Amino acid sequence: MATPTPLPKTMKQWVQTRNGAPKDALQLKTDAAVPSAPAPSSADVLIKISHAALNPVDVHHMRILPTWLPFRRCPTPGFDFCGEVVAAGSAAPEEFRKVGAVVGGALGGMQVAFGKGTLAEYVTMPAHLLALKPKGLSEAEAAGVLGIAGQTANICVRAAGVEQGQRGLVNGASGGVGSLLVQILKAKGVVVYGVCSGVNEAMVKGLGVDEVIDYKAHDPVEPFLAEKFKDQPLDFIIDCVGSQPLFSHSTGYLKPKGKFLTIAGGKSNGVVPFVRNRLRPVMLGGTPRSWQILALLPAGNLAQEVAAFVDDGSIKKPLVDEVFPFEEAVKAFEKLATGRAKGKIVVKVAV
Ligand SMILES: NC(=O)c1ccc[n+]([C@@H]2O[C@H](COP(=O)([O-])OP(=O)(O)OC[C@H]3O[C@@H](n4cnc5c(N)ncnc54)[C@H](OP(=O)(O)O)[C@@H]3O)[C@@H](O)[C@H]2O)c1
Repeated sequence: MATPTPLPKTMKQWVQTRNGAPKDALQLKTDAAVPSAPAPSSADVLIKISHAALNPVDVHHMRILPTWLPFRRCPTPGFDFCGEVVAAGSAAPEEFRKVGAVVGGALGGMQVAFGKGTLAEYVTMPAHLLALKPKGLSEAEAAGVLGIAGQTANICVRAAGVEQGQRGLVNGASGGVGSLLVQILKAKGVVVYGVCSGVNEAMVKGLGVDEVIDYKAHDPVEPFLAEKFKDQPLDFIIDCVGSQPLFSHSTGYLKPKGKFLTIAGGKSNGVVPFVRNRLRPVMLGGTPRSWQILALLPAGNLAQEVAAFVDDGSIKKPLVDEVFPFEEAVKAFEKLATGRAKGKIVVKVAV
C-alpha cells in the first residue's frame, strides 16, 4: 500500500441539499470530513482533486435524482476529475499506487448513486476508473479530456466503426464531446463535417474539421444538408445535441447503410427517441436508417485510450472554455447550463 501523506481532518466540498437549479440546490461545506485512506488490501485509491470538469448530466442529476435517500443524502456533484494519488490499497495497479501520480477520469454510476462527486478536495474511488495524465495536458485540460467528454467521444468512434476515407458529420462540434470527437475522427482519416453556430466556426475549423456548417445561417439545417449531400451521402452522423429532425430527414443525406448515432436522449433519457426511431416501423412513419443511442459507462480503460489519443497527437487541442475558482462552482454550472460552452467548463478544486 502507498504510504499516505498526513491528511487534514476536514475539507471543502459542494453538497446538494435539494433538487433544482444549481444556485438553489448547492451549498458549500468547509468542514466536511476527509474520506479515510483505502483499506490496505483494497483496489481503491484516495485522490486529492486538483480540477473537476462539469457535464450537462451533473445539472440533470441535480434536477431529478433524489437527495434524501439514506445512501445518497446531500450528494456531491461532479463526475470528472484530475488530481494526485495520496493513498492506495495494495490491490490497485502499481502505476496508481504511487503517491503523487497524477491521474484523471470520471466517477462511475455506482459512486455517483452513493452520493460521491468530484467537487470535493478528496475522493476515494476504485483504481479501475483511472488513467495517468498524459504529459501534453495541463491538469485543467486533463479533467475534461479524460472525463466523460473524452470517454464519450471514444465510445462514439468505436460505435461508428470508422474507416479511413469515410465521410461523417458531427452535430454539436463545438461542445465538450464534439470538439474532441472531431479531432479523433480526423486523425482516423475521416472527412469531417462539423455543425455549430457561426460564432464558433473559426474555432471548430481550427480543430481540423474539413467543413463547418453553421446551423443558424441554414435554419432549418436539414434541407441544406439534403441539397449539399444529395449526390454523395454521408457514411455516418454523430449527434451530440439530440436533434430529432436531423434523424427524421436523414434519408436525404445519410447512406442507406449509414449509421446515425446519438448521445443525447433528451428529457425522457432516450426512451421517447428509442421508441420513435428504433421500434416504429417505416410503414408507420419510421425513418429507414439505423439509429443508435449510446450511453457511457465510465471506465479507466476508456480514459486510458483517450490519453493515448493525446500522446499520439490525435487530440491536439483540448478546449477549456473557462476555469472557475472552487467557490464559484455555481457560476460554472450556470455557464454550462446555457448550452453554449466552447469545450469544457472546469472548476479548480485545489488552491
Ligand atoms: N450518452 C452519454 O453517455 C452522454 C455522455 C456525454 C454527454 N451526453 C450528452 O451529450 C450532449 C452534449 O454534451 P456536451 O458535454 O458536449 O455538452 P456541451 O459542452 O454543453 O455542448 C454545448 C454545445 O452544444 C452546441 N449546440 C447547442 N445547440 C445546438 C444546435 N441546435 N445545433 C448544434 N449545436 C448545438 C453548442 O454549440 P454552439 O454554441 O456552436 O451552437 C455548444 O458548443 C448533452 O446533451 C449531454 O447530456 C451524453
